[in-house]
Amino acid sequence: MDDKDWEVFKGKLNRKTGIDLQLYKEQQMRRRINNLIQKTPFKSYTSFFDDAVKDKQKFADFIEYLTINVSEFFRNPDKFDQVEKDVIPYLLKRNDSLNIWSAGCSIGAEPYTLSIIMKELTPGKRHRILATDLDIEIIGKAKRGIYTADEIRAMRPDRKTKYFTKTPDGKFAIKPEIKMPVDFKRHNLLKDRFETNFDLILCRNVVIYFTEEAKAVLYANFFKALKPGGILFVGGTESILNSRQIGYETYKPFFYQRPLNSSPGSR
Ligand SMILES: C[S@@+](CC[C@H](N)C(=O)[O-])C[C@H]1O[C@@H](n2cnc3c(N)ncnc32)[C@H](O)[C@@H]1O
Repeated sequence: MDDKDWEVFKGKLNRKTGIDLQLYKEQQMRRRINNLIQKTPFKSYTSFFDDAVKDKQKFADFIEYLTINVSEFFRNPDKFDQVEKDVIPYLLKRNDSLNIWSAGCSIGAEPYTLSIIMKELTPGKRHRILATDLDIEIIGKAKRGIYTADEIRAMRPDRKTKYFTKTPDGKFAIKPEIKMPVDFKRHNLLKDRFETNFDLILCRNVVIYFTEEAKAVLYANFFKALKPGGILFVGGTESILNSRQIGYETYKPFFYQRPLNSSPGSR
């Protein structure tokens, strides 16, 4: 598995899926893929790839491995407590209908968590929750909305009862009223155009393998996608080092605000 083989593999992957490994941390990604290939009979990245593309399920499993989509409802409950008690009420002071984006939404636990919060805070009000991910298979799972006990373990018991129905095989199906406001789409954060005019963007546990350059571009693009006064919520280990340079103010740790007085077209 030499460098030339790696380059050819990256080209093939990019052409087939739009995933450009140039924009991910090389060492970590390569190590991750090596670990996977070592468990197969293949001796090169390209022979592994050529075999995987022949089988739809095998290829989907490979993309799932590559994109790492572990998630759960109310992941880091203390942070969602801040979202519920502070961030959303703050945003609702200026707009009674919010435009929210869960970027890198994986199995849908994050956008559905927001849908639950919005329903409780503003019963009967309509909000939009856009939920996007690179991985089309995981979006399928998100739309089905069926979860294991583990994926909802951080939730309060009353919420579990209120917002899920038990399936015959012991899983938990999210109720249609929570699904309804969420609009799922495939979207590559490193390649595709961004919608704009968001009050709140969540991008958590997505950028771990992105290069520093790719992250800098991403956070600047999020800035432009926010309304003035809008807030970006990032993961617990993902503080934005150059946040001030981009133009953000810190609303609280891990919550970055586009200043209210920044003009919509700025930066
Ligand atoms: C670990 S999950 C995070 C899910 C959720 N945000 C959370 O914190 O629980 C990371 C997700 O990011 C997605 N992802 C990785 N690279 C991406 C990209 N370039 N564009 C969009 N999504 C991406 C993966 O497919 C995966 O579903």
